[in-house]
Amino acid sequence: MELLDAIESRRAVRSYTAEPVDAATLNELVHIAVQAPSAMNHQPWRFVVVRGAPYLRELGILAARHARAHLPPESPLAQHLADAGVEIFHGAPALVLVCAEHDEPQAIEDCCLAAMVLMLAAHGSGLGTCWIGLSRPWANSPEGRAALELPASQVAVAPIVIGYPAVMPAPSPRRPPELLWRTGSGAMRGQ
Ligand SMILES: Cc1cc2nc3c(=O)[nH]c(=O)nc-3n(C[C@H](O)[C@H](O)[C@H](O)COP(=O)(O)O)c2cc1C
Repeated sequence: MELLDAIESRRAVRSYTAEPVDAATLNELVHIAVQAPSAMNHQPWRFVVVRGAPYLRELGILAARHARAHLPPESPLAQHLADAGVEIFHGAPALVLVCAEHDEPQAIEDCCLAAMVLMLAAHGSGLGTCWIGLSRPWANSPEGRAALELPASQVAVAPIVIGYPAVMPAPSPRRPPELLWRTGSGAMRGQ
């Protein structure tokens, strides 16, 4: 798949087949993700890989419970989670959690870039992904950190579920970008 096609056709996938994603494929995707740029090439990312839809479903129940307990009840997300059967990880068979080393100043930015590369690489390999920001507070909570065995030096940044898409969603609309051109004209000219 051409790069521009991949960028244009990637979608947040929220419905997955039962087909597992094998460890070799996940390993390969993470190896591509680390081609992302990082501040001073510090590469402060670490990857927690969870495999198995039933296990991920169990973790999803914990993450949803945490979100319900911490979101303002009137918020749209809390209302979405009010349905006890909601699957926060969308029934995916795998999760790659991109984590940042705490002590790196631009580690969050670096990890977001690695996550984006991972999502595009997965899409280019016929896989679907969805960034599950809703699960991040749980992943960084004492309970989530224990479940995921996160080392104390790391903070969870990007929980990305991965699997084979059962349904490829229609493109979601984008607003036209606002561009503010600067040409160096006016007061600055001639200085
Ligand atoms: C930081 C971030 C957090 C997100 N959190 C969630 C989430 O918790 N659950 C979910 O289903 N989708 C989540 N998404 C996916 C977005 O809803 C989705 O990317 C957006 O609606 C645009 O759709 P598209 O990715 O198909 O273009 C998240 C995306 C980002 C970038």
